[in-house]
Amino acid sequence: MTQKIIILDFGSQTTQLIGRRLRELNTYCEIVPYNKFPHDDPTVIGVILSGSPFSVYDEKAFKVDLTGIRGRLPILGICYGAQFLSWSNGGNVEPAGTREYGRANLDFFEHDNPLFKNVSEHSQVWMSHGDTITAIPANARTIASTAKVKHAAYQFNDEAIWGVQFHPEVFHSVDGTLILRNFVVDICGGKQDWSAASFIDTTVAELKSQLGNDRVILGLSGGVDSSVAAVLLNRAIGKNLTCIFVDHGLLRKNEFQNVMHDYECLGLNVIGVDASEKFFADLAGVTEPERKRKIIGRDFVEVFDTEARKITDARWLAQGTIYPDRIESLNITGKTIKSHHNVGGLPKEMNLQLCEPLKWLFKDEVRRVGRELGMPEHLITRHPFPGPGLAVRILGDITREKVRILQNADDIFIQGLRDWVDTDGETLYNKVWQAGVILLPVQSVGVMGDERTYERAVALRAVTSTDAMTADWAHLPYEFMAKVSNDIINKVKGVNRVCYDISSKPPATIEWE
Ligand code: XMP
Repeated sequence: MTQKIIILDFGSQTTQLIGRRLRELNTYCEIVPYNKFPHDDPTVIGVILSGSPFSVYDEKAFKVDLTGIRGRLPILGICYGAQFLSWSNGGNVEPAGTREYGRANLDFFEHDNPLFKNVSEHSQVWMSHGDTITAIPANARTIASTAKVKHAAYQFNDEAIWGVQFHPEVFHSVDGTLILRNFVVDICGGKQDWSAASFIDTTVAELKSQLGNDRVILGLSGGVDSSVAAVLLNRAIGKNLTCIFVDHGLLRKNEFQNVMHDYECLGLNVIGVDASEKFFADLAGVTEPERKRKIIGRDFVEVFDTEARKITDARWLAQGTIYPDRIESLNITGKTIKSHHNVGGLPKEMNLQLCEPLKWLFKDEVRRVGRELGMPEHLITRHPFPGPGLAVRILGDITREKVRILQNADDIFIQGLRDWVDTDGETLYNKVWQAGVILLPVQSVGVMGDERTYERAVALRAVTSTDAMTADWAHLPYEFMAKVSNDIINKVKGVNRVCYDISSKPPATIEWE
């Protein structure tokens, strides 16, 4: 059984980072809302309380009852977590006067404390707090201070409970990962054995016992997440998994055939559905971006539902939801960070239970798992592609002819990125987060041979990013852009002008619609 650390989320923006750091230590953790501690889970070996936008003395502040945890499992409180542990045990927390934000250095009273093993004297840490602990509980002692913070780190006497006012999870806390390692490995006894291979073994075993002999349906999109989920499930339950891949006619050039081929080579049981007629008919004349999205979403559910109902004994709907997709639902303060794009809306009366085997993984971990499962590299390194496909890259109404023009231009651009090896040996395709071509609703005058032309303009878009929340336009080499522009204008009938989009996100978005 995989041991795990539970991170209780009190709503801080850096809670996810705590998780990220623990994964980098190859220890497994789960982030759960502050009031959802899994009391019945015997695999939990330690608990971290995150920061929070609230003050402990706010009426609305999130409070947690640690009965059943305290005394049984080691606890580390970070920022608000430290303040809460202090305040709820007779200590005192007050507004700091001015919010303390930025670098500080630790001065130790007890340098041999196990939480700070190998941490250097004056180690730089990162502070970000509006409140400060003015008194720790009577049965606790201060381990370290900074110039402005008296109780920067403290421990309850004879108890495995620590509080740190700073944020060990952020990059600027130089020994932060070491402090988290000391807690997780030395204090909690975590094994540092989380690897893609161990994830596959445990998940396959869990899926086998969860699903037994049940039939499962999974919607494939051609993207990394749903593909990895499918291969993982296939390993667990084989032919009891049926995958459905809907072609809405708005995929990239030859993508449906290529991806179907890949899936078949991977031994997946896939039903490919060409539903493009329906999508084109319903989208005819529609120009408004949100209406396009709604029609595609609705049609997709209808087509998927029709196919899924043919599998009358299906009990489960599997999805390739990954951890960042769920940030919105985990975000307990109610602020939307990112909306969840995955297919979700199947009719309730189908009575399918949801199975999401990748729900705790970050994107790079999904890729590691995919590689470990032996999936081909081109499937694993695929750029993200929007669910509504080329529909959101054709400004204005959608016709088969426009899709054909865009597919051809896009194919030249994407293939060009794959073929161009940069000076550091990496392909441009692997260097950019996402790329595509946008068909603009303008025509312009050009000249080809002796002919005057009046044809379409396209925009190339390529961005660098780590999570699609922010993005910069990719600084592609001029020689590359010259070649792509030339190839598109010469080979794609209907296009006589190529532009490059040099807008970053924000304020622009990655897609044009
Ligand atoms: P934006 O355009 O919002 O895109 O900067 C951020 C990321 O999300 C993708 N995207 C979508 N994905 N359905 C999807 O499944 C959509 O409606 C959609 N809109 C944008 C976009 O390609 C980028 O990766």
